[in-house]
Amino acid sequence: ETGYFTYDPGYTSTGSCDSAITYIDGDKGELQHRGYSIEDLAGKSDFMEVAYLLLHGELPNKEEKDTFTQTITNHTMLHEQMLFFYRGFRRDAHPMAIMVGVVGALSSFYHDSTDINDPHQRMVASIRMIAKMPTIAAMAYKYSVGQPFVYPRNDLSYAENFLNMTFSVPAEDYKISPAVARAMDRIFILHADHEQNASTSTVRIAGSSGANPFACIAAGISSLWGPAHGGANEAVLTMLEQIGDKKNIPEFIARAKDKNDPFRLMGFGHRVYKNFDPRAGVLKQSCHEVLEELGVQDPLLDLAMELEKIALEDDYFVQRKLFPNVDFYSGIILKAIGFPTSMFTVLFALARTVGWVAQWNEMITDPNQKIGRPRQLFLGHAQREYVELEDR
Ligand code: SDX
Repeated sequence: ETGYFTYDPGYTSTGSCDSAITYIDGDKGELQHRGYSIEDLAGKSDFMEVAYLLLHGELPNKEEKDTFTQTITNHTMLHEQMLFFYRGFRRDAHPMAIMVGVVGALSSFYHDSTDINDPHQRMVASIRMIAKMPTIAAMAYKYSVGQPFVYPRNDLSYAENFLNMTFSVPAEDYKISPAVARAMDRIFILHADHEQNASTSTVRIAGSSGANPFACIAAGISSLWGPAHGGANEAVLTMLEQIGDKKNIPEFIARAKDKNDPFRLMGFGHRVYKNFDPRAGVLKQSCHEVLEELGVQDPLLDLAMELEKIALEDDYFVQRKLFPNVDFYSGIILKAIGFPTSMFTVLFALARTVGWVAQWNEMITDPNQKIGRPRQLFLGHAQREYVELEDR
């Protein structure tokens, strides 16, 4: 009845790509950025250094790092006109919806100064995006809780600035704990880039048509929002709160294995990692450090560890090599710092902007790059005669 064609009209699929930015070995559970292991970068570097590394391919020396950091700092302000854009959203709008809208709208401010064929303008656009994301994210939070926007400050680090813009109020400055700022910076590093995941591929495909880079990042934010991708960190907390008590874990494990039940164990499994996601290990360690530093006892951490233990002893998960991924522990840290679950994926997008921008630059500067055009396997009808309406 239905035809089945494979034909090659002379073009090859341009959905996959060459890249020198991030290397993942899913079987070994290894992740490297420009040759440096994620464990080294998370333990010894900071987010500005990693941003420089992803963008330029080398770790910066002190002068390069200071100049890069100062340039980012000098671009953290948002055009004042953008404040009115926020006011168009409902107060209860999901912050990710606000991020998609505001970042996309930035293209209207910088469209005329973003000639993507001009290396200088490409770098300025890149710096602007990295610099403004914390401001945009913090403003999305402030708008959702009905508090006044807090402007960026040039005397604070990237992570400190974000924490201050998020949690300070006119009546009282937010007291920035060094341990929390360090944990925030480490979370940004761990989420910075991850090879050709769904949202990065979205940014590359959008950029391959020559679209404005701010619009491409907005497309990446849209893709990241999905619960199978960046939205999983929010979904993990929702799941843990649903489980509620260790005695309910077997019921949820059974549901996760039931093919007739759409429930999946959020924060488990990965398209590429068939071993531990190395980021999950670092985040698990940070969980303990941050909760101890803040003196927070979160029963959800004990629940998460028990869930991980039981799942990793269950044949279904072991045989399918389903291990905790980056999203399994991150939400517990973010909750301890004070973020609502609705902001978790926003933080993922904030950090991943560095990777998206680096990948966009790599794609746009590749002399061989062509417009993205993934192939399909046609499974539809063979050609057939038109049937007049009165004959149907
Ligand atoms: C991120 O790509 C990236 O790099 C993404 C990311 C990044 O940094 O950009 O790493 C960030 O998105 C991490 C993933 C966050 N998502 C979640 O935690 C959501 C829960 N995970 C699943 O939805 C799932 O594991 C995916 C979407 C992540 C991967 O889905 P796949 O590719 O279908 O998984 P698979 O092919 O390895 O599945 C093999 C089997 C299947 O069952 P069978 O058909 O063999 O019987 O395992 C099952 C799946 O149904 N399975 C799960 C499961 N994940 C896979 N069963 C229960 N719970 C799960 N979480």
